[in-house]
Amino acid sequence: MAKEIKTIGVLTSGGDAPGMNAAIRAVVRKGIANGVKIKGIKKGYQGLLNEEIIDLEKQNVSDIIQRGGTILGTARCSEFRTLEGQHAGAEICKKHGIDGIVVIGGDGSYKGAQALSKQGINTIGVPGTIDLDIACTEYTIGFDTAINTAMDAIDKVRDTSSSHERCSIIEVMGRDAGYIALWCGVANGAEDILLPEKYDYNEQNIINNIINNRKRGKTHHIIINAEGIGHSTSMARRIEAATGIETRATILGYMQRGGNPTCKDRFYASIMGAYAADILCQGKTNRVVGYQHGEFLDFDIDEALAMKKDISEYQYEVSRILSM
Ligand code: ADP
Ligand code: F6P
Repeated sequence: MAKEIKTIGVLTSGGDAPGMNAAIRAVVRKGIANGVKIKGIKKGYQGLLNEEIIDLEKQNVSDIIQRGGTILGTARCSEFRTLEGQHAGAEICKKHGIDGIVVIGGDGSYKGAQALSKQGINTIGVPGTIDLDIACTEYTIGFDTAINTAMDAIDKVRDTSSSHERCSIIEVMGRDAGYIALWCGVANGAEDILLPEKYDYNEQNIINNIINNRKRGKTHHIIINAEGIGHSTSMARRIEAATGIETRATILGYMQRGGNPTCKDRFYASIMGAYAADILCQGKTNRVVGYQHGEFLDFDIDEALAMKKDISEYQYEVSRILSM
């Protein structure tokens, strides 16, 4: 028989993502509508271990849906990777009467949720990461805002790059995944898109491409480089030396994680947060919320973590053809 749920907790973990606040708001308001009490756990699993736990009412989450970051704060917590840490986390939940937790974060955070579930605390994961690198879902909260922020920044770099007839390497985030790079590469009309999943590390191909484009009269050359490849500054030096064309590197960095969430991020976060509160209140555990083929649905965490995701071969092929 499913455990009776009276109080649920919510935490954000790992890298923050625009839309996390909308997800927190949805968990709180849908949970309250379902008749349970809500506790906010600050600073991810670290805050749980430090017992940084607050009561949340409907009014505590007003005026946050439009804000980037996370009102609960977030952290990376190495102690929670240990069995002792996980056991201590579960005991703290019991002490505070928390029957279940919604964990908003990436797949690292899901592993923490899986561990808590094994310790008898019901857990539900909500995909919150700008990287889009969670296999069981076509959408992760924060991705849309991040790519739009990056796209605007890349347009700006392109203006100055064209004026100076320079080559620009622009590095975008994504940990080991190339989704932000692929989307921005296509949307910004980049001449080269370097994805960790596909790049062959043959810089001579890029150099030839730059020289040929210049001969054909192109005044700029934009290379989108994914964080998983990195080394943009040294790459710029080598390309400039080989081509004789001024080459600059811009690392967009943390600006991609901030800012007001787009409508898409607010909407997905709201539905996913509410969905997580619903299934948690139904007594489900060790599940994660996802979005596939137009539907919001949930998966077993163990199965979700075992799934694989890769860049679409067709999308990559199109990105290469359009960049020529
Ligand atoms: P993300 O959730 O964005 O993938 P991380 O990989 O940094 O970010 O994970 C966030 C946090 O989740 C970690 O700091 C840690 O507290 C917890 N976590 C990650 N991996 C595990 C694991 N194998 N077991 C338990 N907790 C984990
Ligand atoms: O997972 C989101 C992300 O921004 C990645 O794109 C990046 O690799 C990582 O977090 C950076 O993490 P930190 O905030 O610990 O530097």
